[in-house]
Amino acid sequence: MLNPSTIAIIKSTVPVLEVHGTAITKRFYELLFTNHPELLNIFNHANQRQGKQSGALANAVYAAAANIDRLEQIIPVVKQIGHKHRALGIKPEHYPIVGEHLLIAIKDVLGDAATDEIIGAWAEAYGVIADAFIGVEAEMYAQAAGQLGGWDGFRKFIVTRKEQESSVITSFYLRPADGQAIASFLPGQYITVRANVPGSANTHLRHYSLSDAPGLSYYRITVKREAGTEPQQPAGIVSNYLHDQVHVGDALDISAPAGDFTIDPANGSDAPVVLISGGVGLTPMVSMLNTIAAQQPDRSVTYIHAAINSELHAMRDHVTALTEQLAPLTSYVCYASPIAGDRCDHEGLIDAAWLQSILPAATLHTGEFYFCGPTPFMKAVNHALKQLGVSPDRIHYEFFGPAGSLEA
Ligand SMILES: Cc1cc2nc3c(=O)[nH]c(=O)nc-3n(C[C@H](O)[C@H](O)[C@H](O)COP(=O)(O)OP(=O)(O)OC[C@H]3O[C@@H](n4cnc5c(N)ncnc54)[C@H](O)[C@@H]3O)c2cc1C
Ligand code: HEM
Repeated sequence: MLNPSTIAIIKSTVPVLEVHGTAITKRFYELLFTNHPELLNIFNHANQRQGKQSGALANAVYAAAANIDRLEQIIPVVKQIGHKHRALGIKPEHYPIVGEHLLIAIKDVLGDAATDEIIGAWAEAYGVIADAFIGVEAEMYAQAAGQLGGWDGFRKFIVTRKEQESSVITSFYLRPADGQAIASFLPGQYITVRANVPGSANTHLRHYSLSDAPGLSYYRITVKREAGTEPQQPAGIVSNYLHDQVHVGDALDISAPAGDFTIDPANGSDAPVVLISGGVGLTPMVSMLNTIAAQQPDRSVTYIHAAINSELHAMRDHVTALTEQLAPLTSYVCYASPIAGDRCDHEGLIDAAWLQSILPAATLHTGEFYFCGPTPFMKAVNHALKQLGVSPDRIHYEFFGPAGSLEA
């Protein structure tokens, strides 16, 4: 445990570091990748270029430091990050490397203001924070490898089926190359693909939510092609690789399922479930839907999917067929810009008034709400649910990138 004077130094300098946050993390990554180029095989280069991960790591360190005397309060956040770290293969030996480079970056940016006392206090605090992450992640590594069908690190899977779901979305069915059992998972969890893209000097790691129910002999992921808008926004590396260069019979390296955006049918709850997705954000929702259909067919489910139009609408026939089979399932389609001949339940964006018009009051009062999609979509849904009085503990969401804030 840190002594009170160290804690006082940390708390008084958190705001200073926050002010210089962008400069410190920019310097930190420059130093880190110069001295440890092997880490370019782990970090997402696009997130780096767009400053997304820089902000995420820095903010998490400052948030942890601000809570240094009550770290147990941020354990849920540590777990959420820990799932990502475990899926990516971040190990205890990586932590001192990050700590060392963070301290050098702080010194470089703050100059004389970073006294030995301040740097010493931050070194100690970083050690405590790192230990909290390492502890949480150790349990996750043990669980991933120790479960039935589980494994450590990356395992080879063969693409046994590739199916186009819309003009930009394709599903990949994956079976283990060793023919052995695969780990179960909770719907909403993701697996991580380590892609060796021809012509690229580094490997690229990307998370993909599992889009079918657990308990099958395969995993399914469903990927949107990120076309980009050259030259400002280069095409996405891994999604285009998967679409264009990975075919039936090819192998992919996959790490075991991870993530805390989940629904667990075994927890005994039969509260109404509302699943709201935008675009490719439907993948965890379809997994949840298929799981409830298989394991709790009497549970009330409302499935709401927003797409731009019918051409970009994935898995429509599947959801329509399930809706016809299952009385407690109601499904709605929203198109932002319908094309000629499109039929939908709502045109334009999802808002509070429309949600209120379709959801029974009891669902608003007792339902569990899950959503996923582009960030502006998630902000709108979050805002609408709050306007309708849905309590925050019944609101669950997943970012398809580094977790961020949904406040405007
Ligand atoms: C928990 C989780 C679950 C996910 N589940 C799914 C899923 O089920 N299906 C799915 O399709 N995706 C999912 N994702 C997203 C997925 O992990 C990838 O981020 C996505 O496929 C894009 O990867 P990429 O390599 O193609 O693009 P990247 O190369 O990583 O680029 C990302 C985006 O940034 C843009 N970009 C790249 N460089 C720049 C630059 N210099 N300036 C401006 N823009 C730039 C690209 O055009 C692209 O749109 C999930 C993500 C998370 C975190
Ligand atoms: C206490 C120290 C650390 C903190 C507070 C921290 C925090 C974070 C946060 C907040 C994220 C974003 C999670 C998200 O996607 O929602 C993240 C992701 C990530 N972290 Fe850490 N991290 C730490 C240590 C490390 C270490 C030691 C490594 C390995 C060298 C590492 C590598 C990564 C990678 C590769 C990602 C994925 C993001 C990307 O590629 O863009 N982190 N971390």
